[in-house]
Amino acid sequence: MDDSKIKVTLNGKVFEFNGKIRILDALARAKIELPSPCYHGNLSQICCCGLCLAGTRSDKNSPWRIELACARTIEDGMEVDTDHPQAVKLREAIINIYLLKHPLDCSLCDKVGDCFLHKFALHTNFHGFTRVVGKQYWHRNLRSLGGKIAVDDEKCILCGRCLRFCNDILGEDILGKIKNERNLDEINVYPGKSCDGNYSLNLVDLCPAGALVDKTCDHDQMAWDLRHTPSISPESSTGINTYILHDNRHVHRIISRKNDKINEAWITDSSRSLVNILNPNNRITQVMRGGKRFDVKMAIALAVNGILSSGGNIYILCSGETSLEDQFVLKRFLDVVSANVYFLKRRGQSDGFLVSDEPYPNCAGAQITRLSTEINTHQDLSDLYEMVQSGTCKNIICVYEDLFADPVNSKIFDDVSISYIGYKNNKTAKIANFVFPVKTLFERTGTFVNKDYILQKFFKAVPPPSKNVFECWEILSLLMNTYYYGEKADYLTLDQIWKDLPYIIADFKDVDFHNVPLDGFFLKKD
Ligand code: SF4
Ligand code: FES
Repeated sequence: MDDSKIKVTLNGKVFEFNGKIRILDALARAKIELPSPCYHGNLSQICCCGLCLAGTRSDKNSPWRIELACARTIEDGMEVDTDHPQAVKLREAIINIYLLKHPLDCSLCDKVGDCFLHKFALHTNFHGFTRVVGKQYWHRNLRSLGGKIAVDDEKCILCGRCLRFCNDILGEDILGKIKNERNLDEINVYPGKSCDGNYSLNLVDLCPAGALVDKTCDHDQMAWDLRHTPSISPESSTGINTYILHDNRHVHRIISRKNDKINEAWITDSSRSLVNILNPNNRITQVMRGGKRFDVKMAIALAVNGILSSGGNIYILCSGETSLEDQFVLKRFLDVVSANVYFLKRRGQSDGFLVSDEPYPNCAGAQITRLSTEINTHQDLSDLYEMVQSGTCKNIICVYEDLFADPVNSKIFDDVSISYIGYKNNKTAKIANFVFPVKTLFERTGTFVNKDYILQKFFKAVPPPSKNVFECWEILSLLMNTYYYGEKADYLTLDQIWKDLPYIIADFKDVDFHNVPLDGFFLKKD
């Protein structure tokens, strides 16, 4: 037998693991649930909740012991029984103690659906039975911890996850366990400290009992009504893994999705606030020509005619906000049309953790598709403005980018034909001759390549606000086919794109979109 392989019997079934992992991790891999509220795989361990009790024995002939599954590692031949009667009884007793002061507000709580107390109280033998005699009051005295965070002391089980998050991840003592005036332990901020950084809302996600709440969206939507769709934060090239929480029509929240290769279990508050891009006041939802609603095919034909008759050079202003699929179709477009790409790659401010200095999700994708090269990549729009002023640039197709992102007088664009492909109702959309509205990240499926060359998928969560809102690659494909009268390459579905992409771009050889795992696929290393 291979020395590194360890055979363990978990609830009567034999499993094999590589190396000495915790019993709790082995159970998780075997999909056996055990309450473990103080344990978090991305934080240091303190074993304080006492709930992960299970029966263990070294072999069939040894006596059973009741042990904390988070505190002991597996051994070859070991048996673990999470249903051992003594372990079950002890767990029930501990959960009952936690429930003594816990308010009965599950139907209103933001944690419902993801609450260990709710889940394991139902799994134990005291359904509907509590030791509380008389009325159980719900005071709901939320105490602010600064920033967006408040604590409900009645729900806190003192698991210490929040304290360890501040110490281990933020590297700062912000929260501590202190005695209140009734000499009871409670969570509070240290003097002069506040939970107001860009990572503060992770505290709400990691609190297992719903004691930490987001003051800004407390009880806005029942958690059990919300679906989770895997996505990627477009905030920077880090590619933070997220879940979009939605009810099939509206996006309500964005939370972190665990990926130990990229963001562990964390997300920035600024990534969560990107849900605001769906605000209808900030969106364009109709194809427009000269400020009036227009049919998409007619608008494309007229835009192409205008560009051809002007005889000027075409400049395509594009950024790393485009998905890999957009970039691929744009490259195909460049194969049939003589155009210059002006790839905008601004430098942002890295926070040294999850926000990189590239404020776009897919600049690495543009490098791989060769859409962005050393020659055509710029950090601002000054060179483009110069070309417009000198008359070199007569036609601009803006793909997701805003021509006014740098200060400039709009008069310089008076003689330029502008087509805008994007979703923001910005100044470019207002002056553009043709406007083609496209879907936001929440309304589309596709891929980004992060700064470490990990290909990651994101998925459509909600429908676009109108049937006149298109995929960016759909508009590019229509433009390409209107320009080019030869053999047509229709890219009107994701599958059509991924049928060609691996053959045309060598780095994606053998990559199948449908087989890209949810935690990403390494394309190449630095
Ligand atoms: S507030 Fe939440 S995370 Fe912090 S100790 Fe209490 S239960 Fe644990
Ligand atoms: S998870 Fe083991 S003691 Fe809390």
